[in-house]
Order: sequence, then structure tokens, then C-alpha cells
Amino acid sequence: MQGVTIVDHPLVQHKLTKMRDRTTSTKTFRALMRETATLLCYEVTRDLPMDAIEIETPVAATSARVIAGKKLVFAPILRAGLGMAEGMLDLVPSARVAHIGLYRDPESLEAVEYYFKAPADVAGRLVIVVDPMLATGHSAIAAIARLKAAGVTDLRFVCLLAARIGVETLRAAHPDVPIWTAAIDAELNDHGYIVPGLGDAGDRTFGTR
Ligand code: URA
Repeated sequence: MQGVTIVDHPLVQHKLTKMRDRTTSTKTFRALMRETATLLCYEVTRDLPMDAIEIETPVAATSARVIAGKKLVFAPILRAGLGMAEGMLDLVPSARVAHIGLYRDPESLEAVEYYFKAPADVAGRLVIVVDPMLATGHSAIAAIARLKAAGVTDLRFVCLLAARIGVETLRAAHPDVPIWTAAIDAELNDHGYIVPGLGDAGDRTFGTR
């Protein structure tokens, strides 16, 4: 599908399988979430524009490459996105963070905003929205719309696991926002959970069930 990258790396797939396993402990799940997010971050930043700068090595003067532009912003959707953001910050520790608080109305499955705090100059930066599960797509669509309302024009979305319907719905709502995911599962159940999925990513990350 256009605008969708499936990160099919063996390390990512192996870790995802362990996360899907219901017998995986909270401690291990949280560690795997962080490690997988680091690997996904490597892929989502693969084509960042670069500048050449002049430096001196201990041996000679040379031209060398650095990432161009302002620092990245990671925008985790609370609360499950926090576990992923940690792993992305491991790789890009100077990134800024925008927190987006959304909960799913249990009846309508629509996203309701309860918190938003972004860097003052977020509009001029590349923002990577982070949520482990792309299920109905409602939360991702609302988070991206909120960031666009704040003036952001350069956006990417990264998740661990997506449902096909979520990918299609997000692509239709925000065709300018490319998606990275480790896998796409076929279905959602009546409660909006991805099947086979991995359960509730927030509960499994924070041990709340
Ligand atoms: N959110 C989750 O945590 N899990 C799902 O399967 C769907 C949405």
C-alpha cells in the first residue's frame, strides 16, 4: 500500500512475536516495546535530509554529514505511546516531545482529547506521531489533526502493530502522512482490539490489568 512501510526486519518480527505471547511478563513486554521502538525509529528516520559540515578529525580536515534542520519531535499518544517514545529517545536523545492525551470512548470508539502539550515552535519541525496500536485509526487521525491545527505540516506516524482498517482509514484521512509499522493484522473485534494483536498495549506496558 502506498505510503505504508512494513518493517520486516527479523529482530523486529522476533520481538513482536514475544510481545504477542500472552505469557510474556510486564517487565519483558516493556523492555521489548522500548527495543522495538528503537528499531522502528531507525527505519522512520532513514531518509532524513542531511547537510555537509566542515570538521577536523585528529588526522585531517574533512567534510562530513549531519542531520539537517531543527530537532525532531516525537509525539506519543498517551498512554501506550509513552513506552515507545522511550525507545525512540534512546536513539535520538535530543528530540523534543509533544504529549497528546486521548482516550477512546468505549461506546463510539471515537478519540476524545484530554491533554496536549507541544514545543512552542512545533510548527517548524518534523513530528513523528507514536502509538503502538493502530486499530480503528480514530486516535491517530485526531492526534494528527490536532498537530496540523497547531501548524505542523511535516508528519510521520509510527506504530508497532496495525489493523488493515486502521491503516486504510488513516491513509484516507491524512494521505500526506506516511506510516511505519512492524505488521498489519487482518481484523478488529467488537471491542476495537486488533486480532490476533497483542491485547491492550497500555495495560501490558504498565501492568494495569
Ligand atoms: N489498543 C490496544 O492497546 N490494543 C488493541 O488491540 C487496539 C487498541
